[in-house]
Amino acid sequence: MPPQAVVGVEADDVAVTAALSSAQTEPENPLIAGLERLPVAPTTLVIFGATGDLARRKLLPALYNLAHDGALPERFHLVGVARREKQHEDYRAECAQAIRQFSRRTPDEDVLKGLLEHVKYVPGVFDDASVYAELGKVLDGFEERAATKLNRAFYLSTAPAFFPVIVEELGKSELAHHEGAEVRVIIEKPFGTTLQEARELNRRVLAIFDESQVFRIDHYLGKETVQNMMAFRFANGMFEPLWNRNYIDSVQITAAEDLGIGTRAGYYDHAGALRDLIQNHMLQLLCHVAMEPPVSFTAEEVRNEKVKVLQAIPAPTAEEIPELAVRAQYAAGHAGGEAVPGYLQEEGVPEDSTTETYAALRLEVDNWRWAGVPFYLRTGKRLARKITEIAVTLKPVPHLAFSQDGSLGVQPNQLVLTIQPNEGVALRLGAKIPGTRMIIRPVSMEFLYGTAFLSQSPEAYERLITDAMRGDATLFTRNDEVEAQWQICDPIVKYWAPAHQQSPAHPQSPGPLAQYEAGSQGPKEAENLLLDDHHWRAI
Ligand code: BG6
Repeated sequence: MPPQAVVGVEADDVAVTAALSSAQTEPENPLIAGLERLPVAPTTLVIFGATGDLARRKLLPALYNLAHDGALPERFHLVGVARREKQHEDYRAECAQAIRQFSRRTPDEDVLKGLLEHVKYVPGVFDDASVYAELGKVLDGFEERAATKLNRAFYLSTAPAFFPVIVEELGKSELAHHEGAEVRVIIEKPFGTTLQEARELNRRVLAIFDESQVFRIDHYLGKETVQNMMAFRFANGMFEPLWNRNYIDSVQITAAEDLGIGTRAGYYDHAGALRDLIQNHMLQLLCHVAMEPPVSFTAEEVRNEKVKVLQAIPAPTAEEIPELAVRAQYAAGHAGGEAVPGYLQEEGVPEDSTTETYAALRLEVDNWRWAGVPFYLRTGKRLARKITEIAVTLKPVPHLAFSQDGSLGVQPNQLVLTIQPNEGVALRLGAKIPGTRMIIRPVSMEFLYGTAFLSQSPEAYERLITDAMRGDATLFTRNDEVEAQWQICDPIVKYWAPAHQQSPAHPQSPGPLAQYEAGSQGPKEAENLLLDDHHWRAI
């Protein structure tokens, strides 16, 4: 199928109308009431940090793919803001290069050209008021030419230290509100590095913008498979009756990566695995498993339910942390058949760093539905392979009437939702091995995205950028949600902090930092978190 028309008034009107009319012909389904997509109004997207890694690898390719699908709004414009002086033309060439290198599709030259015609560049440092004056002129210029007001979305894809600076400059230069149009601010992660910082950042952002204008990114929420968890739980009647402490024995969430930290030591050594993945992405996955069905799929209802889950997780006390949390660092080993260095030998990592590259936690959701069910979370760099999955293990059957031999292979049912790669859902069942004897072994019933839908899933950022432009905050983290996430992780962050970062008033001894070989299953110490006869699944 040829790519649909790109940006530009007439062409896009067709694309937008086509999208709307196909939406109107879809049958009404009460289960997805509230999920109907609001139209994307004409918008100018401003990316601060426009030449950074995230913009090049994710944001620009996502915009290209939206253009390819005819999913950008009519009269879409893009403005890149970054420190270096350069001409519009040079920035456009850089955009094209990034899109060619990182897009999931080989770019169609006409689509690319159409997109780039609407791109401008504003150079300058983020605390310089003149940058915002210039930006204002560019934005006004688009409106004059369009003879109408255009929505504005400011995407903060910079180092986190600039988030409050940019927000405050937008406020001072009167760009945070625009009569007759919507102004939105999209804030990348990390949203603070402690509870206190997250609160302070919320305070500064909300002094300028209303919460309804703020879109805090957690790119896991844009993943198809994460969204499918809602479909899986709330569009199927068969799981919900079992989805509680009476039938579920434990939940295990894994986000394993085979890569090391690459060139990101500057960021990663100050973050560590707990802040980098657990505080945000993995707690979001947990929320999707544990939340109550929302009354409707509106941003407020969905996020209310997630906040309730987070608030039901008791923050671990200093006495509990050694029992509930394990941290470790990778040592040299092998990845992809090649010898790879340990964390301390990676470029840019201080030789005495105690930053964890692996973290595992045992949490409990202390409410009527889940009390007593352990939720195990683990993440790490340089593990055996990349896999993100959620395994829900049911309680064993109460009685096995088979002979001793027959029963040997019986295992509790387990439902595994694979978020990536090989996206899909597998249900472990017991089945009789064909033959004259009654012998049972586990088999797997599988649904795989790749074979069921035969289509390529959009990248998370494609969904998130359109949702933000459309004003739908369902897949973004609300202010109380991000603080509730920090509330759980903050005591552990403080407990594990190196001596010079410990609070003088409450110094703690962070305990040993375990090690694991690169390319392995992780540290053996992680076994200590497991209750009863639980085991970590093989990575
Ligand atoms: C990012 C982390 O948020 O998520 C990275 O900063 C991590 O360290 C990445 O590698 C994982 O994302 P994905 O989509 O590859 O699972």
